[in-house]
Amino acid sequence: MKINKFSRIGFILAAAGSAVGLGNIWKFPYITGEYGGGAFVLVYLLAMLFIGLTIFIAEVVIGQTSEANVATSFVTMSKTKNKNWKFAGFMLFTGLIILSFYSVVLGWILNYVFISFSALPTDPEVAAATFTNLITKETNLQIFFHTIISATVIFIVLKGIKDGIEKVNLILMPLLGLILAGLLIYAITLDSFSEAVEFMFIADWSKIDENALLAALGQAFFTLSLGVGTIMTYSASLPKNANFVKSSVLVAIIDTTIAIVAGLIIFTFLFEADAKSSAGPGLVFISLPLIFSGWGILGQVIAVAFFSALVFAGITSAVSMIEPSLMFFIERFNMTRKKAVVICGSVFYSLGIVALLSMSEAYGPSLTFFGKNAFDWMDYITSSITMPIAGILISVFLGYYVDKQLLHEKFTRFVPEFIFNIWYILIRYVVPLAIIVLFLNKLGVI
Ligand code: TRP
Repeated sequence: MKINKFSRIGFILAAAGSAVGLGNIWKFPYITGEYGGGAFVLVYLLAMLFIGLTIFIAEVVIGQTSEANVATSFVTMSKTKNKNWKFAGFMLFTGLIILSFYSVVLGWILNYVFISFSALPTDPEVAAATFTNLITKETNLQIFFHTIISATVIFIVLKGIKDGIEKVNLILMPLLGLILAGLLIYAITLDSFSEAVEFMFIADWSKIDENALLAALGQAFFTLSLGVGTIMTYSASLPKNANFVKSSVLVAIIDTTIAIVAGLIIFTFLFEADAKSSAGPGLVFISLPLIFSGWGILGQVIAVAFFSALVFAGITSAVSMIEPSLMFFIERFNMTRKKAVVICGSVFYSLGIVALLSMSEAYGPSLTFFGKNAFDWMDYITSSITMPIAGILISVFLGYYVDKQLLHEKFTRFVPEFIFNIWYILIRYVVPLAIIVLFLNKLGVI
């Protein structure tokens, strides 16, 4: 039994805080740019609606019903109570691996907050070199920022769900909303805003191939924090009488809105400076700082606001990646929260160091295996292997191994029956099929 529950609004903010992160503000705009805008956005919205939201609701159902850690949840909810379902708990370690390199990237962003205060790069070469040097040469600086981010995350989760995670989200999420609203208003006053709207909402189907479809599906998965046990774990603290469908829809809407708004802001800025929209991962780290520096003191203020917003969004996601492991250790091994934090914290902090060293000129070669460095391996293993497997497992579990009557009752307490029927068809047939295709494609089989 959990004594330490979220309030309903606390849950929504915390789940939205987990969902809204680097995935929305950094990744979504750059892949939208790479795939040419409008058509990709449309495909992404469909993937969110039919696949992302369906699994999101599935994770909330499992968590809210079982009120336990991921491993135990699967066992108690299965028709046969088969103990082997505890192995589904493997997915919670994914969060620790993602957190290791997510913390490193958040560290880069924090560094850019400081760069924005002092001196932004003024020409393209310097802008690119600033970023490349940070990653390949400035190992100590990266360790410094990774340590600050890790310590912040550890400090927050030590205080628990209610006094740590809920409180931080209650502060940072509104703050993030305010900064983005301010940036959006500024973007609207610029001439290129209409161009950005056109780019994002008028579909150019020529750029869409199966890679774009799969990228959209993968992004829907990542941005909703699915397949890691995060949403399940947070939902274990969602009050039993809260309408879980409504809460899920709300979180998905907040998450999608923020991605679209971030896209509009970033593309307006890029077009205003006649910069390319297809610069890839360097979009936020190389293209934007250059544009901001051209705007003088106003640019500096915008840069500080923008990178701070990214840090806030990232911190609320980071704390959600470690919580599934903490809950597991606390419940399964009767550990104190403090001990669980020390263990999980040491794991992700050290893995983060390995990740950042693996990109440096000095240590990279010895931390590269089969052509991929450790950082890329961690990204690959999580987003291409463990997360899709978890997605298939969750949908097959609910579709075939949980009593349909139980699910039916849960849903119809809050929503009309047809909504349950649609969800059930999606989770039984559509979701597993879509993810299996994604999975095989990522492995290079098809
Ligand atoms: N959703 C976050 C983002 O878009 C990332 C994230 C947070 C995440 N928690 C997660 C991704 C758990 C996968 C699993 O940046």
